[in-house]
Amino acid sequence: MASLEAFVQVMSGTSPSIYCFNPCFSNVNRVFSVQSAVNNVRRRSSVAEKVHSNTRTLRKGLRFNAAEGGSDGVFHGKTGVNRLENMTCKCQQAESGRGVTAEDKNRILFGDEPNRPIPVPHNPITSSPDIDEFKVVQQLKNENGGFTLNGKPPTAGTVQEKLENVRANSIEDEAWSLLQDSVVYYCNNPVGTIAANDSSSTSVLNYDQVFIRDFIPSGIAFLLKGEYDIVRNFILHTLQLQSWEKTMDCYSPGQGLMPASFKVRTVPLDGDDSATEDVLDPDFGEAAIGRVAPVDSGLWWIILLRAYGKCSGDLSVQERVDVQTGIKMILKLCLADGFDMFPTLLVTDGSCMIDRRMGIHGHPLEIQALFYSALLSAREMLAPEDASADLIQALNNRLVALSFHIKEYYWIDMRKLNEIYRYKTEEYSYDAVNKFNIYPDQIPSWLVQFMPSKGGYLIGNLQPAHMDFRFFSLGNLWSIVSSLATLDQSHAILDLIEAKWDELVADMPLKICYPALEEQEWRIITGSDPKNTPWSYHNGGSWPTLLWQLTVASIKMNRPEIALKAVETAEKRISRDKWPEYYDTKRARFIGKQSRLFQTWSIAGYLVAKLLLANPSAAKILVNEEDSELANAFSSMISASPRRKRGWKKKSFIV
Ligand code: GLC
Repeated sequence: MASLEAFVQVMSGTSPSIYCFNPCFSNVNRVFSVQSAVNNVRRRSSVAEKVHSNTRTLRKGLRFNAAEGGSDGVFHGKTGVNRLENMTCKCQQAESGRGVTAEDKNRILFGDEPNRPIPVPHNPITSSPDIDEFKVVQQLKNENGGFTLNGKPPTAGTVQEKLENVRANSIEDEAWSLLQDSVVYYCNNPVGTIAANDSSSTSVLNYDQVFIRDFIPSGIAFLLKGEYDIVRNFILHTLQLQSWEKTMDCYSPGQGLMPASFKVRTVPLDGDDSATEDVLDPDFGEAAIGRVAPVDSGLWWIILLRAYGKCSGDLSVQERVDVQTGIKMILKLCLADGFDMFPTLLVTDGSCMIDRRMGIHGHPLEIQALFYSALLSAREMLAPEDASADLIQALNNRLVALSFHIKEYYWIDMRKLNEIYRYKTEEYSYDAVNKFNIYPDQIPSWLVQFMPSKGGYLIGNLQPAHMDFRFFSLGNLWSIVSSLATLDQSHAILDLIEAKWDELVADMPLKICYPALEEQEWRIITGSDPKNTPWSYHNGGSWPTLLWQLTVASIKMNRPEIALKAVETAEKRISRDKWPEYYDTKRARFIGKQSRLFQTWSIAGYLVAKLLLANPSAAKILVNEEDSELANAFSSMISASPRRKRGWKKKSFIV
């Protein structure tokens, strides 16, 4: 730790880890009860004692406090400092009388000991409107003896096809077993999945942590299987981490930031050799390679929270006061005024799945699509109350502006490309057509070849005098899922994926972006990053996890055959190759140079794709349907756009 940072932490009593206190998740009535300690557990006498004995323990900004709600013990939002004694639970497992700790369990899973499958309890699917439908389709599936696609069994039943089905099922079984092996426990409760379970890897780095973004496909797979506890625990524990004050060289990120990842550590209980407690240790980017803040974490958290409610039918989690506060904190951070002229979120390089320098600083599409989806999802979940009126107003205004900005300025197809090719530049006026002063010479030669006559996509980024024409898969797919792209645009994106299958899918779905940065561009933009060499890792590598987003998008557009083809391609190699994190080369023929094996989100992404193809209607837990008021606002704005009509007057839309 840098000395300045250490000094500030000692002075303020802040530091990077939190001790286990466990809101009673089984109680859905928002009543807080501390899970009592199991064996040999002593209560800490005071917060002060803890601060003196361990300067690495965070004591500030904790969210829950049973006392604050008065005698009813109900949560009433965030609390200040010095209430930890009311919430701390010391965990020691009663397993086999030996006190197996969460870290023991996690160590087994990380490969220090041979892997042992840890059973995850299977909850029967509870009844809710969504789930009843799910049950019916499941039943249909069983009756048909295989998965159904839009109600039809996909195969005619030749021996070859039957063999392939069996093979595919055995891959699925293997994937479930690996996913369950990756589960991480905190105070005996499943709280997430580690990023990779690769015992062959010599350096673990942070792949033994639970990454927020990596857990999303795991969480969705568990939800679709009816295993809700792990998702609920993940949502509530990561929420506790949100309120921490984290600093890097004396500087703290904004309140509301969710960590990129966290680790469960089991540490000895002070003064008692026979007892331990679990500690949640988050990383907000202050330890991450490149020190990048994860802007996508909070957005994914909101999306998962909505999916949890829709799938389980348990709305009590999203209704909790602390969860409502958490949603508002994320929104406030995202909606805060800055210097920007654009409604898109301004972020640094490395703020999302591409978490190192790849020239995506500015307003990258991936973040905008997740932002839009999170805004719509939050609007659905926020309890209407006076205190939120301004926030909801700000959210609605932002939705309109963001929707217009992306649909209009990020969209590119043959027609638009031709328009840019003939742009006039240096237009000083309110009604400029070339608003961002894009010089036509910027059109890269690869794009002239790449752009199909049918199809189009949303570009990667837009800045003054700069369009990043690279195709970024996640941003485009999530724009379809969230309805940030119009219906026509969504179909056109899928048309392009089909037309450019050899470039974007080839031997393993799906390229993270296309094309790769090469030579001088690679040197300047990545800083000569040896991990991001052309057609590897973030620089044009192929990521099997993206299968699940491709599946949701193609199901939403009623074109599941696209996902089906991609899944079949993946099945040819993914299990044999040991579930790599990514593949290298233009056609994805090699397992990535530094790729982890048994990468959890490759496993979970495959499972989600399979589960959704078997039951397409379940995709609605992730989809944001097009909002008619937003669509109308877009139509009015587009008809008033200077591209079509000079003399546009500024209008404001309130939805
Ligand atoms: C890599 C990926 C990032 C992922 C992490 C853990 O850093 O770029 O998106 O979250 O690995 O798997």
